[in-house]
Amino acid sequence: MHADAAVAAPTLIYKLTSIVKRLEPTQIFPQTQPLEVELGSGDGSFLVNYAKLHPERNFLGVERLLGRLRKLSRKGLRAGLTNLRGLRIESAYFVEYLLPPQSVSALHIYFPDPWPKRKHRKNRLINARFTELVHSALAPDGVIYLRTDDEDYFLQMQTVFAANPSFRLVETPAELSAVITDFERNFHARGVATRRSAYAKV
Ligand SMILES: C[S@@+](CC[C@H](N)C(=O)[O-])C[C@H]1O[C@@H](n2cnc3c(N)ncnc32)[C@H](O)[C@@H]1O
Repeated sequence: MHADAAVAAPTLIYKLTSIVKRLEPTQIFPQTQPLEVELGSGDGSFLVNYAKLHPERNFLGVERLLGRLRKLSRKGLRAGLTNLRGLRIESAYFVEYLLPPQSVSALHIYFPDPWPKRKHRKNRLINARFTELVHSALAPDGVIYLRTDDEDYFLQMQTVFAANPSFRLVETPAELSAVITDFERNFHARGVATRRSAYAKV
């Protein structure tokens, strides 16, 4: 081999080998342990800090913007995390077509795009059908954790999960609430109130 042959730079960004075959989490992480997923993970501010607290769990950040995933990767590598990966894909597609059934112990969705205009609300990620997809993806006793600054979207989240008898309202553990996201920090700095709730699979 040439001395100057290109060496792939280390990255925590996982490259899918197929967009039609479901993921095999054991191929993504060195350790087989419970999987938690954040949809719309941004620059990874939440996931990096939470993954540091829980080396006994694996964490996958799903994000459509490559620049933000690169930040997650840089931060995770700097922290020496082996239980964190990022994936560039659209969230709803990921949950419906790529997550294996009952594979996720916790799903985190923090400050998803609120689509505040009435005619755009159909674009929101969290709706009645999404609760069904989440139910399939969650492991028994799995939990979905939600945060938003948008009152109307919060009401929609509460309404669709309350209407699905396969979920029950649960408390967000204080240890999890204490790990705030980048957008959350920004909202709090501007005095904008944020809301949270969580639902466990029954
Ligand atoms: C408002 S930001 C919140 C980021 C992070 N969760 C936080 O709280 O700091 C929403 C993020 O979701 C990503 N996003 C929006 N729609 C998405 C989709 N359909 N699939 C994947 N990522 C998406 C955006 O690129 C952005 O990084």
